[in-house]
Amino acid sequence: MAELLSVPRHIAIVMDGNGRWASKRYMPRIAGHKQGVDVLKRIVSACPSRNIGTLTVFAFSSENWNRPVEEVSGLMDILAMALSREVPKLQRDGVRLRFVGSRDGLSARVKSGLEQAEAATEGNSLLSLNVCFNYGGRWDIASAAARLAEAGTPITEASLSGALSMSYCSDPDLLIRTGNEMRLSNFLMWQAAYSELYFSDLLWPDFDETALDAALLDYASRERRFGKTSSQVSGDSANTA
Ligand code: IPE
Ligand code: IPE
Ligand code: MG
Repeated sequence: MAELLSVPRHIAIVMDGNGRWASKRYMPRIAGHKQGVDVLKRIVSACPSRNIGTLTVFAFSSENWNRPVEEVSGLMDILAMALSREVPKLQRDGVRLRFVGSRDGLSARVKSGLEQAEAATEGNSLLSLNVCFNYGGRWDIASAAARLAEAGTPITEASLSGALSMSYCSDPDLLIRTGNEMRLSNFLMWQAAYSELYFSDLLWPDFDETALDAALLDYASRERRFGKTSSQVSGDSANTA
């Protein structure tokens, strides 16, 4: 693809639309989630060549526990299976995998899978992949505030930011949501304050490298003002940071 003037260093994606993709094909919703994992693999592989250093994906929200039990347990099985199959390749490809979210409510099998995957890829740095699983933006902010309060640390924007679960990386520059829904659904409520938003009407299992490139092209045309005026921004480097 053509060289872009500004490339997001950190992309976040709400991978939505798996269930609808499956229903359209008269398949069980779980089949859509399985297909979704394959798309995620492709998007992960596409990031390094596009100079994206961090990819954060929303895989299971705090609210997704409210789905039918079979779907929740199917999603847990898919995660466990994907980990056992994919971690060796991620390790070889230089991807550092981290799980972001509460570990409460996860089975011992899933928890140990997450821990092993994180440990196995800890030394990698080509792409940082954050999988938000059992994650909610409000959970993130409330737990950070609770930790600070317990330690007696004054709550400021800087201290709260530093206590959030993804304080090790920059905020997402670009936030993509597939599935033709225009909402955040409790994803990265703090970190997305100045992310550029991009909504795709493709269902996640239909998303691909071409769709990613379309989002990157759109991002490159945005002017990120961070509260300043347009003439201030065109004279400084805020738009290309
Ligand atoms: C996103 O796809 C994946 C998860 C929330 C786990 P959905 O399962 O929400 O798919 P739709 O929105 O029902 O089509
Ligand atoms: C958001 O999708 C969560 C994930 C993609 C994991 P949902 O499908 O759960 O969001 P709502 O319920 O439509 O807002
Ligand atoms: Mg959905």
